[in-house]
Amino acid sequence: MKIDHIGIAVKNLEDAIKTFEALGFKLEEIEEVEGQKVRVAMLPVGESRIELLEATSEDSAIAKFVASRGEGVQHIAINVEDIELALKRAKDAGVKLIDEKPKIGAGGKKVAFLHPKSTHGVLIEFVEG
Ligand code: CO
Repeated sequence: MKIDHIGIAVKNLEDAIKTFEALGFKLEEIEEVEGQKVRVAMLPVGESRIELLEATSEDSAIAKFVASRGEGVQHIAINVEDIELALKRAKDAGVKLIDEKPKIGAGGKKVAFLHPKSTHGVLIEFVEG
């Protein structure tokens, strides 16, 4: 297994990119993911990435997160070979799923979220491939 990326919710994407660039990170790309109502900036770190997330709508999960908890680490994404199988395994083990079926996330990849209530308060995202 490996960590695909760590998702960080921010208020302003350009401000956050500047901060991370000042720390030595390099911006790879900025992408808008309409289905999740976010703008995403990817900054590689080793074989993983930091994913900075800015809400594009007030009903986005990122807007709700920032409103209730402020900016900060929002999720950890794990690479899986077969996302349907990974979801089935998690469900069979009693983990509550946010997404019963994969949806399309950043980079056009199949993604799905698990419910943080069943994963010790950590929002986990599966990313296929
Ligand atoms: Co993510």
